[in-house]
Amino acid sequence: MPLRSKIIGTGSFLPDKIINNSDLEKLVNTSDEWITERTGIKQRRVVSKGESTSDLCLEASKRALQAAGMEARDLELIIVATMSGDMPMPATASILQHGLGAKHAGAFDLNAACSGFIYGLSVADNFIKGGTFNKVLLVGAEVNSRFLDWKDRKTCVLFGDGAGAVVLTSTKGRSGILSTHLHSDGKLWDYICVPGGGASHPPTMKTVKEGLHYIKMRGNETFKVAVKTLEKLVIDTLKANNIKPSELAMLIPHQANLRIITATAKRLNLPMEKVAVNLEKYGNTSSASIPIALDEVVRDNRLRKNDNVMLEAFGGGLTWASALIRW
Ligand code: UT7
Repeated sequence: MPLRSKIIGTGSFLPDKIINNSDLEKLVNTSDEWITERTGIKQRRVVSKGESTSDLCLEASKRALQAAGMEARDLELIIVATMSGDMPMPATASILQHGLGAKHAGAFDLNAACSGFIYGLSVADNFIKGGTFNKVLLVGAEVNSRFLDWKDRKTCVLFGDGAGAVVLTSTKGRSGILSTHLHSDGKLWDYICVPGGGASHPPTMKTVKEGLHYIKMRGNETFKVAVKTLEKLVIDTLKANNIKPSELAMLIPHQANLRIITATAKRLNLPMEKVAVNLEKYGNTSSASIPIALDEVVRDNRLRKNDNVMLEAFGGGLTWASALIRW
């Protein structure tokens, strides 16, 4: 039997504060009708004053550890996938490690934007399969609200805050992570970016005045690339594992746009009952969207042992990624 990695616990955490589409109508020239029709989003959660990314990570991680029946002190590695960490340095993973009291764990952040959770899953999977680590915590967490221009209707209606976490360990048998697939096209880096605040444009009065520290997105161009790319990705992922679309029990997609999700489901001939959708409640939480959706699916008992589950994401980089799991 091959050595594989397996998710043995999931958890998620959403901040309390809710912003409805009707609240946004008061901020920018938009409407509940436009947002619902074009994206599927009805509301999103945002952090309150004093709340940050590591706080969301901590709550989601505690829940995942509890579900796994594991103590934080037993963890060997903590990975936080985020593009909106507490600060550029140190890693949010280190702040989380301290918060959890995970004294024996190494910790680092990983940034592959909205694909970050699946990139992290691939890293964790390979560390476990290679025998380096056996108890890994992977978190996808974002506080996008602090990087949004609340005057830009093209972006502020889309994103939300939240965190999802999984605990992984090794297993021998049929179940576990079957494969992960990572891709990027850096030529299209400026389709989604936060241009300011880094080494290219360090923060100055000018960069702040120009709003370079906010998320910028060429939405329609990104949409077209996403639909085309994801349709190929999901088919390639099934082929790599010799699995037919009809053998798929559940698709857990990144929650950016309902139209992108339904296009991918259609390509797989998958009825929407087999697709995890929660973006109406949380909007696009970037690298947190898949682990939050996974946690909801697990807690709703929608997954059975040996079910084939596909995760897929697309986002800034551009990056896109998938994973096939036998639950
Ligand atoms: O998670 C990372 C990956 N991200 C994605 O995959 C996101 C991909 N993109 C999308 O989801 C969609 O492109 C959006 C939801 C961002 C936009 O939808 P769209 O159907 O592509 O709209 P559009 O950008 O082509 O804009 C159509 C119109 C424009 O007006 P004109 O030029 O036709 O007069 C926009 O100015 O809609 C306007 N518009 C809005 N109107 C009301 C753009 N944002 C808004 C808004 N409310 N919030």
